[in-house]
Amino acid sequence: MKNIAIILASGKGERTGLNKPKQFIKIAGKTVLEHTLTTFEKNDNVDEIIVVSHINYISYIQDMVIKNNYKKISKILAGGSTRQESSYIGINSITAPQAKVLIHDAVRPFVSNDIIDNCLQKLDEYKAVDVAIDSADTLITIDNNNIIKSILKRDFIKRGQTPQAFDLAVIKKAHELANKDHNVDVTDDCGLVLKYNLCDIYVIKGDDFNHKITYPIDIAIADKLFQLRNIYTISQDKKRLKNKVIVVFGASKGIGQAIVELSKRYQAKVYGFSRSSGTDVCNYKEIKSALEHVAKLEGKIDIIINTAGVLRMGQLNTRELEDIYKEININYVGCVNIARLAYDYLQASKGSLIFFTSSSYTRGRALYSIYSSTKAALVNLSQALAEEWEKDSIRVNIINPERTATPMRLKNFGVEPKESLLSPQVVADTTLDTALSDYTGQIIDIKISQRNS
Ligand code: CTP
Ligand code: MG
Repeated sequence: MKNIAIILASGKGERTGLNKPKQFIKIAGKTVLEHTLTTFEKNDNVDEIIVVSHINYISYIQDMVIKNNYKKISKILAGGSTRQESSYIGINSITAPQAKVLIHDAVRPFVSNDIIDNCLQKLDEYKAVDVAIDSADTLITIDNNNIIKSILKRDFIKRGQTPQAFDLAVIKKAHELANKDHNVDVTDDCGLVLKYNLCDIYVIKGDDFNHKITYPIDIAIADKLFQLRNIYTISQDKKRLKNKVIVVFGASKGIGQAIVELSKRYQAKVYGFSRSSGTDVCNYKEIKSALEHVAKLEGKIDIIINTAGVLRMGQLNTRELEDIYKEININYVGCVNIARLAYDYLQASKGSLIFFTSSSYTRGRALYSIYSSTKAALVNLSQALAEEWEKDSIRVNIINPERTATPMRLKNFGVEPKESLLSPQVVADTTLDTALSDYTGQIIDIKISQRNS
């Protein structure tokens, strides 16, 4: 018996108020729909995927299938005018006499393999399974005049998510009954099974990451959730670094030096450059000849990493103008130079470019106006380049390490307790994981609490 996932992607996304349906907006370089499809594609227990789409987007999704090399998608069907219709179109297209069916909203891109697997497993015992999480908010009912009628007991209140999973015959029956019924006012497939009292619906535990994109704020939340999830999922097999050609700018000390050392350990062909050895990131020509030198020797460059950066404390109006420009040039213009010169090499290798930001990028800090604003600019630069270069399969990401035990840190903040700092080796490790991953446009947070343990 097959396990078939139906992905509902035929909605218009009116509540997000964007100029395209929310399943087609990009988070971290990929559309929401691609994130969803990739999870189901990679899940070992899912045999087949049916996508229900608005008719205007079918060819776009066909291109997506080719680009991502999806192998499980068997049909892309034109959807209906309501979720229920779209869901029925998916179910009705299944010709096998028996199947386990998962029905999932395309706009929940962070569904986990655990949720999918648990749904399918529970279908051995029950004919319908829903996914739900606890409600942190108190739920109340009101009357037409906005007067509270009742306060619900939270122990038995859950917030429903998707996927919902069914024995094929049950969900088919539910929709057939609904099609004949003029009085259907339920919003999802479990609602139909419940309404016609077809069987018990078992509820498994969902999770907060399995968030649905509905309103504009959900896009900001989705971005952040993706970033948070990366912390746990970025780890790669670093044996893949063997024979990769890596260029590191700012390689003489701190994080840059740790990256060079770790790369060597995995037998990468790594080349480090720094100001002290005659390559200043502010100098376009020097970067150009550094990259040409490596490409000439190795014939390619796979990964380019820039850790060069300076931090100068001081109020803007009292600092030397020269010094301000120098900080901007090293921190920001250096990355622009590197990116511009990196393009040809990384296009040829479908490679990876990595910059570094700091936790101050989210909020400017007094006394660090230039440092924190250049770090914010770098985040923005990385995201923009990730989009521009997605067509070339170049990945651009930015690492955001918390306080790290580097010479720069020591110089500016003195001796701090060891346990309150990340080690450069830990940062190097995640940087190389990022370089090997297929993430793009991502801010990779490295936190002391998660990493030094
Ligand atoms: N859906 C669908 N066909 C429809 C309506 C919705 O396949 N006619 C899908 C959506 O694409 C989405 C899921 O059902 O993945 C949940 O619906 P919802 O969040 O309401 O999405 P939209 O209908 O697109 O959004 P809105 O209601 O704001 O227009
Ligand atoms: Mg809708």
